[in-house]
Amino acid sequence: MGDTPELNNREQWAIQCMDRQLVVLDDLTARADSTAAWLALERQAGSYARHLGTWLAKESIFPGARDRMRAHQVDLAGYAQRARDEVAGVDAEALEAARAGLGIRLAVIGKGGAGKTVTSSTLARLFAQAGRKVLACDLDVNPGLAVSLGMQGDQGGMPEGSIEEHPGSLYGWQLTGDMTPIQVVEKFASAAPDGVRFLGFGKIGPASEGGGTDKSAAKQSVAALVHLMLGIGEPDWDVIADLEAGPTTPFERYHAFSEDVVVVVGPAWRSAMTARRLLPMVEGRRSIVVSNRFRDEPDHPGLAAQFRIPFDPELAEVERQGLAPLDACPGSPAIVALRELASLFLSAAREAAPID
Ligand SMILES: Nc1ncnc2c1ncn2[C@@H]1O[C@H](COP(=O)(O)OP(=O)(O)O)[C@@H](O)[C@H]1O
Ligand SMILES: [Mg+2]
Repeated sequence: MGDTPELNNREQWAIQCMDRQLVVLDDLTARADSTAAWLALERQAGSYARHLGTWLAKESIFPGARDRMRAHQVDLAGYAQRARDEVAGVDAEALEAARAGLGIRLAVIGKGGAGKTVTSSTLARLFAQAGRKVLACDLDVNPGLAVSLGMQGDQGGMPEGSIEEHPGSLYGWQLTGDMTPIQVVEKFASAAPDGVRFLGFGKIGPASEGGGTDKSAAKQSVAALVHLMLGIGEPDWDVIADLEAGPTTPFERYHAFSEDVVVVVGPAWRSAMTARRLLPMVEGRRSIVVSNRFRDEPDHPGLAAQFRIPFDPELAEVERQGLAPLDACPGSPAIVALRELASLFLSAAREAAPID
């Protein structure tokens, strides 16, 4: 291998990412002891393959790592095949049931103010109340998920020890390589009510006394959080992310981890404009358009809501006070609707996610 061309930082980082994916897949393989666990392995290999596809689709990205990427694609297909072989004897019905029972991978997107945070936090807690293991992640640089979950606002950043520097990573930081993503969650995620675990962009630093966010903490954490969510292959964990508003974020593949997408749309036309731009970007996933805060306004043209959360002044008031709506107004109309949305996700009748 003496004539291997020098790889730049970005290429080295990409190769390290692929190496780490293999560690996760080997770990899942070693621990696989049920149909659900094998299906989780298949799903995880599929998520990585989808993410890899976005790298391969761009000729200009990491040219020196492209051979490795193609080899990685073959490796990923091998893990998926191994998993399918393991469950080959299981009958179709049991297979479908196991697939439908896998942990939920949900990205909540939409324009700022649409209601993403209240939707994410309430679903996360309701899933946990149903006995599930839930990781809730705040990927919005204007954080709010922790408070909406019922935590102190400054809790739940990516702490020291969970991230490390790498010159090739986005903003120069990445998830630590000392642990697998699920181990990072188990060790570092903050405890939120109902047993929800929480991770976000970090402590609000001194720079934020005017009300902003510590941008450097956010930048150090973003790549780590994105890869952490993508790397959780456990069959029994739900992962919910509250994504920064607007179309740029999903375009950067922050939602690469997700199988389900909730697009929250408010009554303002700008909110509809954002939602329309976002929908094509989440093609191939199960997406549901949720209208929120509507009074008696009609649906936006061409954007029929599949689910409705009504305008709810009580919810707005408890949120203004910094309380978790699920605790402070558990019977208010918006929370009642969110309970229905949660049962939709939890219902056994829910179809299994498509596999790529
Ligand atoms: N159904 C609703 N009725 C009334 N107010 C709402 C409703 N949903 C959200 N809000 C309020 O609207 C604001 C934006 O909600 P939030 O969940 O923070 O949106 P996003 O995270 O998309 O920016 C908050 O002040 C919240 O309390
Ligand atoms: Mg928000």
